[in-house]
Parts: sequence; structure tokens; C-alpha cells
Amino acid sequence: MIHCVAGILLLCALSCLAVESRNVDGGVFNFPLEVTESIHGGYDNNDDIVGTRWAVLIAGSNGYWNYRHQADVCHAYQILKKGGLKDENIIVFMYDDIAFNEENPRPGVIINSPHGDDVYEGVPKDYTGEDVTVSNFFAVLLGNKTALTGGSGKVVDSGPNDHIFIYHTDHGGPGVLGMPTYPYLYGKDLIDVLKKKHASGTYKSLVFYLEACESGSIFEGLLPEGLNIYATTAANAKENSWALYCPDEFPSPPIEYGTCLGDLYSVAWMEDSDLHNMRAETLKQQYKLVKRRTAYENSVSGSHVMQYGDIGLSKEHVFLYMGTNPANDNFTSMENSLPSFSRAVNQREADLLHFFHKVDRAPEGSHRKLEARKQLLDVMSHRFHVDHSIKLIGKLLFGIGKGLEVLKTVRPAGQPLVDDWDCLKTLVRTFETHCGSLSQYGMKHMRSIANFCNAGIHQEKMAKASAQACIRIPPSSWSSLHRGFSA
Ligand SMILES: *[C@@H]1O[C@H](CO)[C@@H](O)[C@H](O)[C@H]1NC(C)=O
Ligand SMILES: *[C@@H]1O[C@H](CO)[C@@H](O)[C@H](O)[C@H]1NC(C)=O
Repeated sequence: MIHCVAGILLLCALSCLAVESRNVDGGVFNFPLEVTESIHGGYDNNDDIVGTRWAVLIAGSNGYWNYRHQADVCHAYQILKKGGLKDENIIVFMYDDIAFNEENPRPGVIINSPHGDDVYEGVPKDYTGEDVTVSNFFAVLLGNKTALTGGSGKVVDSGPNDHIFIYHTDHGGPGVLGMPTYPYLYGKDLIDVLKKKHASGTYKSLVFYLEACESGSIFEGLLPEGLNIYATTAANAKENSWALYCPDEFPSPPIEYGTCLGDLYSVAWMEDSDLHNMRAETLKQQYKLVKRRTAYENSVSGSHVMQYGDIGLSKEHVFLYMGTNPANDNFTSMENSLPSFSRAVNQREADLLHFFHKVDRAPEGSHRKLEARKQLLDVMSHRFHVDHSIKLIGKLLFGIGKGLEVLKTVRPAGQPLVDDWDCLKTLVRTFETHCGSLSQYGMKHMRSIANFCNAGIHQEKMAKASAQACIRIPPSSWSSLHRGFSA
């Protein structure tokens, strides 16, 4: 099951880092965040920094099998911190169940690559555990403290000259992004909040980096130009994204980890940002480097990194959003600077890989082995249940032949997933009422449900078909009744 999705081994020698020494003039490196003079130093640079850099970082999952998303976010924090952003301007959402997880072989430490340093130290715990919610994320972005529930109370209290960077990494599905709590985040709601933020006149420009399966669908046909927002996504609207540094892949984490340490697109932009003088690199250059590294040319694994919104903003330097690490001042060349990856794992298979690995490594006859087998079985049966139910509902609604066609239809590029997002929400809710929650894995079926809406199916019909298809809600932890609705 795993090897069929694992991808093809590419023999890629790590490219040497080409260091080009440019004549960067002396005293410009220690400048504070809020400087009013333009940045100089030998570059043709129009990024006049007036105002403050803000960042919102979100890991949308929890559970040790999803180690990598929180590792990504911690790593992103370290980049921004070294880049010169202040903690008061970096807002972190992470469940925070990894560093001291009983399965973590290095308690208190999180790494984002096999030989990587600890990225956990110093990460602000603004919104953790059950406070990592969609509504807190929106409240933070809009700077609305009264709308917060729990957490540190830190919000993006930005002004008209400020620059905002948002990074979200997690599972996703067409039109939806995961959260470690329910409900998940709908693309349309996110865009509405971004529009509201724009209307409030509280930023100059905003950059959004997004890692998730079908992440393109969050912006495609939805994010208009003119909001001063530039977004890039790990994948287009109809493909999954990829986990990296996974067990039994190459390069792999130390054997005792048994889980993936990072994600392909995320690691690509972060390992690039780790190295370079961000004053010398434009968003466009980074996009191109990340696109190439994430594409896995000639391989079955890899996805298409996309860009949306005001593409013109990509001529700005990454520095404007992430600052730059003074130690990288001489790293100004963009040539051959990123190693190629060898093998990645489908975002949706990475948890299976973890559970397989766990079953495999637990001593024969141990409690741990029994537990691991049960977890694996739960995951598999939830997947089977959701896949089967959706297929059956499609057939019940449209007949056997047409049903499969509707389930699989993908709208042409440039169109949003669905015209009526309220319909989508209603039908998802109806499905979950009868069949149990879609949960992380089930998000992949959002497109099929969106297609039901696009074909004019209303709640009543959906309820009838769902009731027929799902006689009962399976009791496993993955299809729980107690956590309620996922979307
Ligand atoms: C902030 O949130 C509260 C509670 O949700 C809401 O009533 C209020 O209108 C919001 N304020 C702004 C400025 O949007
Ligand atoms: C960059 O290169 C210059 C000239 O070779 C050197 O003096 C300086 O220390 C280097 N800076 C860093 C941060 O390595």
C-alpha cells in the first residue's frame, strides 16, 4: 500500500551551494524593523520599509503522526525571528502536543529535517490546544480582541503601512483547510476575512504561503486582484501536496521517529529562506525555486506550486515580509542553492506510513503492537467508510453511471470549486449528520459534495441519500460522534 504511493527514487546529488560574494556595503545589517529609509546595499531595491512586519503561523493538525506540520511552523518562526521580527509581531497557532508527546524520541525538541537543529525553542505559545480555532484565527487577523476565546490575546494590530505574512500548513481538501479543532476552515470564509482586512485599511501588502492538499482551490477563482495580496500554494486545486523526510524514504528521519518531519513545499521555501540574504531575493525568485523543488520533474510525486492574487507584488523582496538573517548577508546568489529531494510521501498517506511503521516496530505480543494495530485498523476502516459512503450517495443521487461522473468532475482552472458555498456547507453538514465526520482524510471528498451543489442537489435529497447510504455512524475515533462536525 505504501510503496505504490511512495514515488520514484530520483538520484539527485545535493547541489553545491554557490556563494557569490557581492559587494554589500557595510553598516546596513543591523537595522531595526521599522526603518524609514530605503534599503540599500548594492541591490536595486524599491522595498521601502515603512511600518511593521507581522506574521501569523498556523499548524492545522495535531497528533504525533502529523508531527511535520507543527515542525514546519516552528521552523518558520525561527526564520522570522532570525530575520529580525519581534515576538510581539509573530502570532503562532499550534496544538503543541508534539514536543512532549510520549512518542517523541527527543522530548522537548522538534526538528524539521533529519539533521536539523531544534526548532521548538522559543516559539511563542499564543494559541495552543483547543484555542487553535478558525474563529481565533480570523479574530487575530482582523485584530479583533473581543472576538478571541482563550490564547495569549496577541492579534495583528497592524496599520496601513504594515506588511503581513501568513503561513498555514496542514491537511486540506478542495475548498477547505484543516484545523486541529472542528470546524475546519472554508476557503470562501478565509477570502471574506481577507477582504474585510483589506477594507479596514490595515496593511500595505500581504503574502500568504499555504501548504495543503488541493491548496490551490482555496484561492482559485476566489481571490481577486486589488487586495494587495500575493499567495502561493503547495499544490494546484486538484492534487495533493507531499510530506517529506518520511520513514523508509530518502532522506529519512532517524529510525526512532517513525513519522515525517516536514512537507515538500514548506521545507522548500524554508530551507531557501534559511540560506539566503532575503534582501537580495524576490518573492518571484523564491516562488520559482520552490516550484522547481516541489515539482519533482519526471516523478510521480510532487505537485504544482501555484501563485494567486496580485502577482505584481512578487517583484518585492522576501525581506519585506521575513526580514533577513544577518549571518546570510553574503548568500546572495539564487543559483543551485537548493538540494533536490529524493522521495516524498502523499500528504494523505503519511499517517498510514506512521501507523504501519509503528505496528512493524513494536515487539511481537506487546501492548504497543496491539494498540498500533488497532489504530491502523481504525484509520483504514474510517477511510473505507467515507470513500464507500460518498460513492454510494453519488450513485443514489444520479444513478450508477452518471453518479461516478459527477463525483469526479473537476471544473476548469480559474473557476471556484462551487458557486454556492452555503449549499456546500449545508450538504457537508448533512452528510456528517448521517455518516459521521469526514475528518482529515475525508476532506478529499469536498469536491464531490461541491459537485452535488453544482448539479442542483438540495439538503432534502442529500439527507435522504445519506440516510440510505449510512445506516449507522461507525464508532471509531476517526468517525467520532463526540467531536461533532468537521466542516
Ligand atoms: C469584533 O468581534 C465582536 C464579537 O464577535 C463583534 O461583535 C464586533 O463587531 C467585531 N468588531 C469589529 C470591528 O469587527
Ligand atoms: C561577507 O563577506 C565579507 C567580505 O568577504 C566579509 O568581510 C564579511 O564578514 C562577510 N559577512 C558574513 C556575515 O559572513
